[in-house]
Amino acid sequence: VSGHTFLLHDGRARNLLEAVLWHGGEAQPARDAVVAATPDERAALIRFLESL
Ligand code: HEM
Repeated sequence: VSGHTFLLHDGRARNLLEAVLWHGGEAQPARDAVVAATPDERAALIRFLESL
């Protein structure tokens, strides 16, 4: 209805960027790199994830 998607085990992430930002543990450095990335780099990452 609202156009959301539901990702991760419990559906708590509403889109791919949220799913990436919920990561921790071994994924923490990758998550932090996404936070530090430019908007263009983040958009390129999301395009890549959508292509999978
Ligand atoms: C930049 C892209 C991503 C990278 C580099 C990445 C990397 C990782 C890594 C290293 C882990 C293991 C973390 C740990 O427990 O130590 C992990 C867990 C996981 N990832 Fe990703 N991931 C990415 C994107 C995604 C996306 C887009 C989704 C969902 C749509 C996803 C779903 C999950 C799930 C469900 C787990 C298991 C979490 C848990 O055990 O509680 N990941 N990821």
